[in-house]
Amino acid sequence: MPELSVAVFATDQDQRAVLQVLVDGTSVAQTVCSSPTMPLAATDPVIRRTRGFAPDVILIDIASDGVTAALRAVELLHQELPDAALFAIGPMTQPQLIVSAMRAGVREYIERPTTTTDLLEAFVRLTATRRKPGRESSRGKVFTIVNAKGGSGATTVAVNLALALQSIHHATALVDLAPLGHCALHLNLKPAFTISDALTNLHRLDSSLLDSFMAHHDRGLQVLAGPSIPTAIEPSASDFARLFDTMVGHFHYIVVDASSRLDSATRLVSNLSEKILLIAHADVASLWSAGRVAQYLGDSGSRDRFALVLNRYRKVAGFNEAETEAAIGAPVLWRIPNQYFAVSAAIDRGVPVMQQGASDISRSISGLAEYLTKDDLEVKRTAWSLFKTV
Ligand SMILES: Nc1ncnc2c1ncn2[C@@H]1O[C@H](COP(=O)(O)OP(=O)(O)O)[C@@H](O)[C@H]1O
Ligand SMILES: [Mg+2]
Repeated sequence: MPELSVAVFATDQDQRAVLQVLVDGTSVAQTVCSSPTMPLAATDPVIRRTRGFAPDVILIDIASDGVTAALRAVELLHQELPDAALFAIGPMTQPQLIVSAMRAGVREYIERPTTTTDLLEAFVRLTATRRKPGRESSRGKVFTIVNAKGGSGATTVAVNLALALQSIHHATALVDLAPLGHCALHLNLKPAFTISDALTNLHRLDSSLLDSFMAHHDRGLQVLAGPSIPTAIEPSASDFARLFDTMVGHFHYIVVDASSRLDSATRLVSNLSEKILLIAHADVASLWSAGRVAQYLGDSGSRDRFALVLNRYRKVAGFNEAETEAAIGAPVLWRIPNQYFAVSAAIDRGVPVMQQGASDISRSISGLAEYLTKDDLEVKRTAWSLFKTV
């Protein structure tokens, strides 16, 4: 991840020091300057000094006894350093303050006390939006698959979607983020390494090391397998940020099977994702869970990237799709047919339905892959040298 430069404005000395430590602790950003005073006018020397550091982000602490000065500073900095993203740190208990800060030009309002994870998520959101098509079009797209509840079909969709993307576009990776990984089983692979190896070797992770950690499926799909025993290592969210930053440099598409994992790693990867597919069944319990999951993963960011995929779909009398979409706050993007025999046999044999010729379910998943990448026609024409596949 490109390192972001950060300017810190906080009148309180302790808070300034804390923010600096937290920013540097994300390991994707670094404090380049800090100021104990808030600028009072456009001519204030602190503005000129800050401009000299060309910060990507300006972090402003809104102290309870200095709200007016902090909001004035936001306005001035927004006007004088339009290329810097303004993040405010303040209390969440005063909605009017949050609205005023946003109106003055704040891009992210982060609760105080702040954590490294809160800041990291905000930094990742910033880099992800700056990376929209056209700016760094050679970077791959991430699709994250989570289930509304265990057994909804997240792994089945992730594995088959990854195979479909690989067959259409090549250069696709499948990352198994589940606490206990099933992707390798679905693909009949016996990985020598797992995501834990990649995360513990981040300091020297380049394309060839990453390649050696991945299991190679005979259709060309590369798989970063999940742990086969629940692992004790708890990588930090910034470790995941670094891993994915390396991966988007090497693959066109990265499908992430998060299954039921709901923690800071899944939140972080969701923030990096082009789309987060919530796999649910069309029943009350499943849809209720889907709403909760979306809320957990997307409460502070852009919910428009969430979409529902109704798996094992059958027309059910009384099921109202529009009401469901409104309740969950995400559109129904796709419906995958219910083919229990074909799917369970495919999992048992380790030969996914996408590999078994045309069927209703393979057509549905190919359609989903095409739909998700319909704007990426140029991708097909790009020649890729890394991890070239057949
Ligand atoms: N489209 C489908 N039709 C029928 N059965 C399905 C379908 N998708 C998944 N299944 C079944 O649901 C079970 C759970 O799927 P899995 O992908 O492991 O879910 P998750 O990863 O969400 O826990 C599988 O054993 C499979 O047999
Ligand atoms: Mg699963």
